[in-house]
Amino acid sequence: MKDLTTKYIGLTLANPVIAASSGLTASVESIQTLEKNGAAAVVLKSIFEEEILLEVNQQLEEAKKNPIIYSGLSETLDYIDLHIREDSLNDYLNLIRDAKNAVSIPVIASINCVSFEDWTYFTKKIEEADADALELNLFMNPADFQNKEFEKTYFRIIEKVLATVEIPVAIKISKYFTRMGLSVKALSESGVSGIVMFNRFYTPDIDLDTISLSNGKLFTTAEDLPETLRWIAIMSNKVNCDLAASTGIHSGDDVIKMLLAGASATQVASTLYKNGPGQITRILNRVEKWMDEKGFDSIDQFRGKVSGEYSDNPASFERMQFMKHFSEIR
Ligand SMILES: Cc1cc2nc3c(=O)[nH]c(=O)nc-3n(C[C@H](O)[C@H](O)[C@H](O)COP(=O)(O)O)c2cc1C
Repeated sequence: MKDLTTKYIGLTLANPVIAASSGLTASVESIQTLEKNGAAAVVLKSIFEEEILLEVNQQLEEAKKNPIIYSGLSETLDYIDLHIREDSLNDYLNLIRDAKNAVSIPVIASINCVSFEDWTYFTKKIEEADADALELNLFMNPADFQNKEFEKTYFRIIEKVLATVEIPVAIKISKYFTRMGLSVKALSESGVSGIVMFNRFYTPDIDLDTISLSNGKLFTTAEDLPETLRWIAIMSNKVNCDLAASTGIHSGDDVIKMLLAGASATQVASTLYKNGPGQITRILNRVEKWMDEKGFDSIDQFRGKVSGEYSDNPASFERMQFMKHFSEIR
């Protein structure tokens, strides 16, 4: 029996496989199934900042049509606003409470956010509902031509949330930064306990029959792995917090690679949709088998073993590899 435990954002996990935020972590039944199959923790389906605001606005419009409940006075408006907002968010808080009662693995709440405005008060309620930690999916899309404060927004959100809660806070970031290495390093020094690399934006395709935009792939494939692996390996020695690898992790081999690159934990979603929750058990069996073959008893014995190759100067290391690798091809 191998020791698969790992520490991530102050939580002791039984193994390094976390069920990533998705539709599979949106109900208590599904979370129980994930636990039974070996998930070390779950990140709940995100609550979306816009979703909340949209609901509030729609219901306010309805309320305004009713003169009995909407008097036109601003205090009434404030009351209705707050009341509706709290009502619509109760479902999420109940999910946290119910999941905490139903499983013994850590339950990490998730908020998908794009601004540092009105929503941050809700993080306190998440903490009070007994979530073990909070993951902020910082969803600033680089296709945004309006937000000129792109990177500053990250830090302002973090500052506001850290001032509100005491539970560990991880951020899930995209791979779109002007200077990825420096940005991730700075974010790791902002007080967050962990960084999840990476989140995934909507990917479009083009339909050649209708000659219009269509939906791209919802799920990742193994081809999405190398970019995650590269950045985990580059950053794991340079950050001031834990790293969780996400995007493109589909097998036990992928999990082992992320640990060798220095990740504290991994998050999986697509492979669970494609192969069912039993995939977690298969991943863990493979990790144990590999550890056995290589003579490792615990994850700590090999975590980050390969990231050292990147430690001094990642750019010159990669340039050297590029020159060696590509010059051989005629
Ligand atoms: C159907 C589906 C729903 C998802 N919903 C969320 C979500 O609510 N919040 C979030 O942070 N990530 C969400 N994700 C992204 C996953 O958490 C994960 O970061 C991404 O799928 C990459 O990991 P993978 O390669 O294991 O799929 C979702 C992914 C899928 C496939």
